[in-house]
Amino acid sequence: MTGRIPEKFVDELLTRIDIVDVIDSRVPLRRAGKDYKACCPFHEEKTPSFTVSQDKQFYHCFGCGVHGSVIGFLMEYEHMSFPEAVEELAGRAGLLVPRESRGALAAPARVDDLATTTDLLVRADRYYRRQLREHPQAQEAVAYLKGRGLSGEIAAEFGLGFAPEGWDNLARTLGSDPVSQQALVDAGLVVKKDNGGYYDRFRGRIMFPIHDYRGRLIGFGGRVLGQGEPKYLNSPETALFHKGRELYGLFRAREALRRENRALVVEGYMDVVALAQFGLDYAVATLGTATTRDHLERLFRYTPEVVFCFDGDRAGRDAAWRALGNTLPTLHEGRQVSFLFLPESEDPDTLIRKEGLEAFAARLQTAVSLPDYLFQTLAADIDLGRLDGRARLVELARPLLSNVPQGALRELMAARLAEISLLAPQKLSSLLEKPLPPTRKVAAARRASQDAGVPSLVQTALALLLQHPRLGQLVGDPQPFLALDGKGIPLLVELMRLLNGQADLNTGSIIEHFRDSKYILHIGRLAAREHPMHQQDVEAEFLDLLRQLRREANRQQIERLSGKERAAGLNTAEKAELVRLLREKQDLEREKLTPRS
Ligand code: UTP
Ligand code: MN
Repeated sequence: MTGRIPEKFVDELLTRIDIVDVIDSRVPLRRAGKDYKACCPFHEEKTPSFTVSQDKQFYHCFGCGVHGSVIGFLMEYEHMSFPEAVEELAGRAGLLVPRESRGALAAPARVDDLATTTDLLVRADRYYRRQLREHPQAQEAVAYLKGRGLSGEIAAEFGLGFAPEGWDNLARTLGSDPVSQQALVDAGLVVKKDNGGYYDRFRGRIMFPIHDYRGRLIGFGGRVLGQGEPKYLNSPETALFHKGRELYGLFRAREALRRENRALVVEGYMDVVALAQFGLDYAVATLGTATTRDHLERLFRYTPEVVFCFDGDRAGRDAAWRALGNTLPTLHEGRQVSFLFLPESEDPDTLIRKEGLEAFAARLQTAVSLPDYLFQTLAADIDLGRLDGRARLVELARPLLSNVPQGALRELMAARLAEISLLAPQKLSSLLEKPLPPTRKVAAARRASQDAGVPSLVQTALALLLQHPRLGQLVGDPQPFLALDGKGIPLLVELMRLLNGQADLNTGSIIEHFRDSKYILHIGRLAAREHPMHQQDVEAEFLDLLRQLRREANRQQIERLSGKERAAGLNTAEKAELVRLLREKQDLEREKLTPRS
């Protein structure tokens, strides 16, 4: 169960973290005036235009336009997901990440709870491995592994263990008191019965310890010896264990991925182990789930090329197609993905045992590239000899192509589709033309910062508030601004309200407030906009803007009411309102004449 991270917590966290420390430990920064600079880690450059502001807790590259908060930086640079970035920073700050569940606030996973869980997992791991050596039933387990061709060395390297038959072996060994029993339940190792008793989750199984990308033990997979259902049982999702993000064998394979510049994604634990035994050490497996975007993003941190290996049967093809769908949005910056289908009723484990490393590795060369696989699969059920068949192909391909980030690959895939469909490329590209979804991409950020356009009052007010959040204290009641007509007003008022309530926000934490908002791109680009203005002038400038906006709001309201008066007359309330507005108008004009102090 992983609920939403409360906004309040993110605010609190960001007050305790310094973006300069976090970035500096990854991209060494040099002080430049009151900011810090480095060569941009997101694009090639010789002179530093990547700037980190300590005041604003915000980074921005004047060269390529990337920008964001410290959380955004970790997401971009480390390819972490939002919750991962938050967890990373929380760990640094010694804070515990609370989670909201179904509207209510769940008891936060406290750090010492997590520590207990990790500690229990490690002890359970030791226990299972010892059973594989010492338990009276161990011979059966060892015989099973031998029967599958596993060497003792490879079993030890992967830390395989054995959970003996019996309902409470582990529960009795590690859960002597109620507190540790509950901890075992939280760790997913023991299950609580409705009547209050406890029993071991894993019984009579070969145990595969599962580590996250940093090598921390996070859970187990357990296979029955021989026949039985379910064949594999995995740890449930816990505070530490997220199947949609983790890959079996990744920590062990990380060096090999860099060396080979390639990752092989297979379906089973046994496949990873068998491949490693035969010397193919760059394979990882999903944890019995479909391949997610998070999986891909994680792998692309290590290598630009991913090869998926699937069974050649129907289920394998379905899984491949699902993986393809999740892969498309991740394909930027020269990443490559291909699909390898194995002969019917074979998997990497059986195949490499039959044919050896060389023959198996040679198969990788025959993997189908993602674009080929996409078009082949779509075209498989379509008669391309027919005009309406080719139109169908275009329609089917359209949503898929639009999921590929803009760039060379997408262009080439579009060109290929034009070839196959015999549709003129210009016609096709106008069909494919669609607004770019709000991704956190360099290209989008650059485009956004270029088309900023004529700075209007509202945009300037927004930019000033974003860059100097303390100005929010000068606003007072934002209500009158709602009367204004125009783009940016709802956002301006939302931002004013936010800053009114909280004095300690900085640019970075404001950005985090709007992370899921449709305004996020806009906000990012305003936060990065430069003002030809001195620090001392900011306040005066802002107050002046507010006055202008107030006057404009007043003018628009008067105009609206007078228009109505001429056309249809006003009721009593409207008349009173008009009088109030006219008086306000005089006040505002007088204010204008008052010299600033
Ligand atoms: P497979 O059924 O392909 O198993 O499941 P396998 O890896 O070839 O297993 P062996 O060779 O018979 O031992 C592939 C993966 O799907 C998940 C596991 O992660 C497994 O490694 N799975 C499978 C489950 O989680 N539960 C199951 O019951 C079966
Ligand atoms: Mn298998």
